[in-house]
Amino acid sequence: MKKIKHLVLGITGGIAAYKAAELARLLVKQGISVQVVMTDAACQFITPITMQALSGRAVHTKMWDASIANGMPHIELSRKADAILVAPASADFMAKLVHGNADDLLSTLCLARDCPLLVAPAMNKQMWESPATQRNLTQLLKDGVMILGPDSGVQACGETGLGRMLEPEDLLAELLSSLNAELPARPLTGKRILITAGPTIEKIDPVRAITNLSSGKMGYSIAEAAIEMGAEVTLVSGPTNLKAPDLAKVVTVESGAEMLNAVMANITNQDIFISVAAVADYRVASPSTEKIKKSNAALNIELVPNEDILAKVAALPNTPFCVGFAAESENLLAYAEEKRKRKHIPLIVANLVSEALGRDESTLTILDDQGAHPLPKSSKLKSAHALLMHIANML
Ligand code: CTP
Repeated sequence: MKKIKHLVLGITGGIAAYKAAELARLLVKQGISVQVVMTDAACQFITPITMQALSGRAVHTKMWDASIANGMPHIELSRKADAILVAPASADFMAKLVHGNADDLLSTLCLARDCPLLVAPAMNKQMWESPATQRNLTQLLKDGVMILGPDSGVQACGETGLGRMLEPEDLLAELLSSLNAELPARPLTGKRILITAGPTIEKIDPVRAITNLSSGKMGYSIAEAAIEMGAEVTLVSGPTNLKAPDLAKVVTVESGAEMLNAVMANITNQDIFISVAAVADYRVASPSTEKIKKSNAALNIELVPNEDILAKVAALPNTPFCVGFAAESENLLAYAEEKRKRKHIPLIVANLVSEALGRDESTLTILDDQGAHPLPKSSKLKSAHALLMHIANML
């Protein structure tokens, strides 16, 4: 059975828009990522801020959005979705769909979609029963649009009859049965995961530093995958250019010492610790408070070791399940296994520097007590899912 993971939730103008807030919360709780798109009229009934807080993603309301790569949200958003659900759908919006109008973002998105469209009508009973709406309903069904509801009962206007939007729980059930789909697997539900990511930078003076080369992509992908799989994620990140997943608690740091402090401050009650950060092994013994001036003489900078964060966490009395990363340029599996033993951790992930650094894909090998488990070369997000599935099975 197909799993439904990404949904566009369209909201049009109607009093039932308040139920869309509860629906978004319910969908997110069930592990579905929800991208909310609202019409101008919907914004009169409920604010985009409310929907952003509940869905954990910025809400789209406008057709022309410069923040989207090609400036065409109507194409971009529908390509990522398993389905579009418009709830509530007003009589006007149903009419627009019938005619293929595309004069705002949501109607354009529906017209440009390559995924199923589901519509949950909500309107006054007279509007629902009107010949025009009934004609539109027939046409939408003919066009393959799935109609969820409406329900019958007391309406906001005080009248009783057909036209109420289905309740959020019923909408979710109808959505799954209409698409013959099931909820995504969430094997990390209830688990707390602390992840470190990115490089650390160690100051030499106010304008110079030593650092490790790391984009942070692997750690951020693991954070995103862990959230999709139901975990509560804390991300301790060195400097990167990446956007953190909306639902993660993020602590940003610069140096290895700051990263250590942030990890220790957040480690209590964590179930899993995944140390992906490329922590600098050394820091400058005494960074200069003023900019060091150029001279022709050789410059010696004394470096002292940074504490090993992973080894320290692994040695805690109530240590979480600890996972390390080993990026090596040679002797990959032997060096990685040596680190796993030295740091007393149950699992380490080995990858070759040449195949990892800054790339969008990765080729990982998991090493645990059972031996080596190579994962196929794939996107960092897919590799992250596979790694987390392995961890979930071990737990
Ligand atoms: N690590 C850490 N704290 C450090 C150094 C490393 O937590 N001060 C963690 C990394 O996040 C990674 C693992 O230890 O999960 C291995 O890091 P790596 O740099 O590959 O290993 P090192 O132990 O530093 O050994 P070397 O640099 O000699 O390869």
